[in-house]
Amino acid sequence: MKKTIVACSVLFAAMLTVKQATAQETDGLHHMSKEYVAPTDPLVIKKLDKWQDQRFGLFMHWGPYTLWEEVESWSICPDDWVVRKGPYSADYNVYREAYEKLPNEFNPVDFNPEKWAKAAKNAGMNYVVFTTKHHDGFCMFDTKQTDYKITAPNVPFSKNPKANIAREIFDTFRKDSFMIGAYFSKPDWHSQDFWWKYYPVMGRNTNYNIKMYPEKWAAFKEYTYRQIEELMTNYGTIDILWLDGGWVRPGGKQEIDMPKIAAMGRKNQPGLIVVDREVPGEFENYATPEQTLPEKPLPYPWETCMSMGDSWTYTHTDQMKSSLKLVTLLVKIVSRGGNFLLNIGPSAKGDWTPQAYERLADIGAWMKINGEGIHASRPVAPYSDNNVFYTQRKDSSATYAFFTSDSDAVKLPETVAFAIEKPAKIKRVTLLGTKAKLSWKLNNGKLEIKIPKNLQQQSGLKYAATFKVEA
Ligand code: GLC
Repeated sequence: MKKTIVACSVLFAAMLTVKQATAQETDGLHHMSKEYVAPTDPLVIKKLDKWQDQRFGLFMHWGPYTLWEEVESWSICPDDWVVRKGPYSADYNVYREAYEKLPNEFNPVDFNPEKWAKAAKNAGMNYVVFTTKHHDGFCMFDTKQTDYKITAPNVPFSKNPKANIAREIFDTFRKDSFMIGAYFSKPDWHSQDFWWKYYPVMGRNTNYNIKMYPEKWAAFKEYTYRQIEELMTNYGTIDILWLDGGWVRPGGKQEIDMPKIAAMGRKNQPGLIVVDREVPGEFENYATPEQTLPEKPLPYPWETCMSMGDSWTYTHTDQMKSSLKLVTLLVKIVSRGGNFLLNIGPSAKGDWTPQAYERLADIGAWMKINGEGIHASRPVAPYSDNNVFYTQRKDSSATYAFFTSDSDAVKLPETVAFAIEKPAKIKRVTLLGTKAKLSWKLNNGKLEIKIPKNLQQQSGLKYAATFKVEA
């Protein structure tokens, strides 16, 4: 019997990993709203445009769950796909009690946001989204609405001068001119007004009937509003309110009053981008396909969020995607008009793995040469052509053709041909990172470029070589 359980849990653990890890290309559409409602507030429109210029951002999932290297929050949710692990797993109540005590041990003494901001900036990242509160309800900021927070006396880290972690992260990254995004989970599995002790917990939703206990739900709405208000008033300029937990939405159930939240947010943070993820309507200013990217450009702003390894949460065994894979993803995403929000989970001690820094350094070296085709670029038809992906400058003065590679070193053929439509009149064609003078001609509507012999054999270029075509 025991054996079967072990075997099953290994199988389930594998399934869990697969669910977390799928970083493939799909149409991604089930992850995003089909009815995009464009914002009308000119300040929001302006900020969205600025945000699209950033193209590459850092996502961080962090909380006491990291002590168990456990999937962020989900292990306390009795959804049928969730499998608990470890010594408390046999009994839900015992497990949840132990989970809720994790803050008593949370002491990330290595926390050094300057180190992260430096590594991220060097990699060409220009915005950050941080989990101020995940579904488990633990606040990584100094909220006044609950004691389930990083600054509560029971949390060892509360004595640290950098205890208000969200503030430290936001202030540090802002100093490095990052745009700032606050991830906030609408559902809160610690709140008695969401998962009420009176009833057993059966899944991710409230465990009581909101129609029978309207005052409880009203209290929860108030609590949520107050917490978001704290984030929107006490934490400097916030550019993005990234709301997760799309099952808390209007339509009879769990209506959280987004119009009120967004109005308050924008009163305090003019132009605030609101991302009520996966809730189609005016409060989803951009779509957020998760661990996937759309096959084609989408007619509205979007961002792929993806973990650098297999999981959002730090695990010491996590396998980081290769630098080649990460650069190729960035190129593909940007050529389709999206932003890439790449997650690195800090450990319980408060740092990333050495591999995460290595990947960022590799991406940074690539960005130093090729970043001009990424930052502030816009998609351009035909978007891609086999292994080549296109972007253009906002003012159409240059088009970039990224020649992606399936090995770290780019091997260029004798000639490359690009089916680009812009710019109409070509002045110059260069290969970024080289001083080569390239000759080109138009052939059957395609731009044909001759690659000098020395560059074919050894371009010295890594991951993807970028041709710049100037008007
Ligand atoms: C998924 C996960 C959640 C995570 C989010 C990030 O919804 O379930 O835990 O925070 O993705 O995009």
